[in-house]
Amino acid sequence: MKIGIGNDHTAVEMKQVISEYLIKQGYEVVNFGTDATDSCDYPIYGERVGRAVTSGEVDCGILICGTGVGISIAANKVQGVRAAVCSDVTTARLVKEHNNANILAFGARIVGVETAKDMVDAYLSAVFQEGRHAQRIAMIHEIESGMNCYAKKG
Ligand code: RB5
Repeated sequence: MKIGIGNDHTAVEMKQVISEYLIKQGYEVVNFGTDATDSCDYPIYGERVGRAVTSGEVDCGILICGTGVGISIAANKVQGVRAAVCSDVTTARLVKEHNNANILAFGARIVGVETAKDMVDAYLSAVFQEGRHAQRIAMIHEIESGMNCYAKKG
């Protein structure tokens, strides 16, 4: 499996630790993030990973900024991205099982390295549960593409 990883300046070390952890497990990791600790703009890296995921260049993504929020908001502006910010292992599992999240995001200022590794494991080993969850994801993509407006339907 090929994983795209992206980060801003707050998460250079976390990105390196997580990348090495994944490579040791046999994953192919593509680095879309910054390797410099000078202040930079997280939307660049969120968009890069988002586009790599939706184009099929990578199978899924991992995004890390200070909180995981800004970089995931940016990624979620790319059509077809479902980036989920997590700070615990249960959520990291459920975002794959229920939301089929194609990007796991977290904050280098929020979670420690061991929690981050456990979240990555939980996310990558979980399986999307399809059924009603697939129907809800289809609804999200209808909203995103302008095909449908559920807000008007009461
Ligand atoms: C950078 O200072 C910080 O704002 C960024 O890493 C992230 O937390 C934004 O959501």
